[in-house]
Amino acid sequence: MRQKIVAGNWKMFKTWQEGRDFTKELVGMANMVAHPDVKMIICPPFIHLNICVALTENSVVSVGAQNCAVEEEGAYTGEVSAKMLKSVGVEYVILGHSERRTYYGETNEILNKKIRIALKNELKPIYCVGETLQERNDNIHFDVVKNQLVDVLTGLSPEQMNNVVIAYEPVWAIGTGLNATPEQAQEMHAFIRNVVSEISGASVAENISILYGGSLKPENAASIYVNPDVDGGLVGGASLQVVPFMSVANAFPCKGCGGKH
Ligand code: PGA
Repeated sequence: MRQKIVAGNWKMFKTWQEGRDFTKELVGMANMVAHPDVKMIICPPFIHLNICVALTENSVVSVGAQNCAVEEEGAYTGEVSAKMLKSVGVEYVILGHSERRTYYGETNEILNKKIRIALKNELKPIYCVGETLQERNDNIHFDVVKNQLVDVLTGLSPEQMNNVVIAYEPVWAIGTGLNATPEQAQEMHAFIRNVVSEISGASVAENISILYGGSLKPENAASIYVNPDVDGGLVGGASLQVVPFMSVANAFPCKGCGGKH
């Protein structure tokens, strides 16, 4: 069965103290009421990673970074390498977020290199794809997403692909309050799974987790998760407070949980 995942992307929010307090509270709540089938991940800024890893040890919460350097190591002032992330106990890394593509010029070529470096250092990439509003209006959204997948994932072995998570994040839905409809999400997720099948084979495609991101909230999460090709969410705004984040993570139907969530 595919792993269900709900990951919180803090972006550039929270001081160190706020991040520490949030993580303590989240772990306490998650240990009591987390959905048994859902992997919860928090992705704070770099400076929080150490304390977040320590506080989530032996809990149901895992930790991811929001980026890593495109080079292995060297004279790259201000950068943080995949090897450094691994050394503090980070398990995941978000790569290709649209904010990185737009504001920091990350191309598919750069992202191909980053994904390889992340995998080499035993980090699991959460690779983001998605079209802009203009691209959807021009009816080229499938082409755009296909290119983002083909250019970056081609050449990875099935074993490497088994450690990759994909997040579909329509750029027009990020931070706008406008989420994709359940039908739009399912249509694109099924398309992504097909493209992954073409690149890496049916078995990789069947097992890969594809998350939806873009204004995911407690009020709309269940209607998005209900789709057969949606395996969870990448959450921005709603991941910054414990209760909404937990609600988004717990919005999957649950059999046999005794009404805990
Ligand atoms: P949002 O952000 O939930 O605030 O729309 C999602 C993301 O950017 O990952």
